[in-house]
Amino acid sequence: MKNPRIAIVGATGAVGVEILSCLETRNFPLSSLKLLASKRSAGKQVSFRGEMITVEELTKDSFGDVDIALFSAGGDISIEYAPAAADAGCVVIDNSSAFRQDADVPLVVPEINPEAAFNHPRNIIANPNCTTIITLMALYPLHKQFGLKMVLASSYQAVSGSGQQGIIELENQVRSIVNGHPVACTTYPRQIAFNLIPQIDKFSDCGYTKEELKMCVEGRKIMGLPTLSVSCTCVRVPVYRSHAISCIAQFEHPIDVERARAAFAGMPGIELMDDPENGIWPTPLDSTNGDDCYVGRIRKDQAIDNALNLWVVGDQVRKGAALNAVQIAELLVQGQQG
Ligand code: A2P
Repeated sequence: MKNPRIAIVGATGAVGVEILSCLETRNFPLSSLKLLASKRSAGKQVSFRGEMITVEELTKDSFGDVDIALFSAGGDISIEYAPAAADAGCVVIDNSSAFRQDADVPLVVPEINPEAAFNHPRNIIANPNCTTIITLMALYPLHKQFGLKMVLASSYQAVSGSGQQGIIELENQVRSIVNGHPVACTTYPRQIAFNLIPQIDKFSDCGYTKEELKMCVEGRKIMGLPTLSVSCTCVRVPVYRSHAISCIAQFEHPIDVERARAAFAGMPGIELMDDPENGIWPTPLDSTNGDDCYVGRIRKDQAIDNALNLWVVGDQVRKGAALNAVQIAELLVQGQQG
């Protein structure tokens, strides 16, 4: 697919704006760009490669002149409009969780399962959950050599994962607290400033949140490991941007720290930052606004055989969402042999 005609659905949102920036900075070879959002944003002007593009209202007829549509306007919009786009012959790359577990919709991280992007019988390709992508960027190079068996993880997720309102709530609460005023909680169920919230998304019947269950099931599909055991606690932290994950990973084969560190050499999209004696390990600020994820604190687990402890960080708006979606579009442009 050479020089496709591209649309961004949710172009005015946090991820949509980042998609636009990725298309621009990566010199994505497109022949036209359509920006779609709600009626509220129709007519707004957005700059792209030195030209102004007018945002249009999303309708089911928006896709007749589009080859690839990057959807990032939430699950309800994807469910309502992605089938219309797909029927119009457009390939949808969907950032929501609406289709991720459908057997005929591939779930793709380009560094892990790029070939899956070419088998999209419904014209829909799903972009995985942000925390899952970042975690797998660290686990997959190890899995390739040592065979991943089990993952126990805790995530530390930034407030921008809740959109602009998460950032505003953190800022307002910090300001209220330092000025001695009462704190208002509207976005989160408890105070997020100077606190941690062990709930991201709604609870399901089994006591895990939906975010935690995404971490459990999506890695199995992406890596083709249906029996992988995963357990996870997802926590919202008062950090602006970039998620961090602490995880224990158990492998089929013996593993040690040196061989694990060596496994990251030359792997695209993940950088080793692991020299604890010299104070080198990654923090969320290290990955913020960048494309790469970082891994550090690699050490043998004290309790579980053939297992490592590690710490990974990544910008969840970029590699966790926009960049991954644009990389999928790049795969389609390059073609299967690309
Ligand atoms: P708009 O800015 O016009 O509301 P975020 O995740 O940052 O909240 O962004 C959500 C994105 O989804 C925005 O671009 C928003 O557009 C878009 N969106 C929300 N509701 C609709 C809708 N009914 N139709 C089209 N786009 C929508």
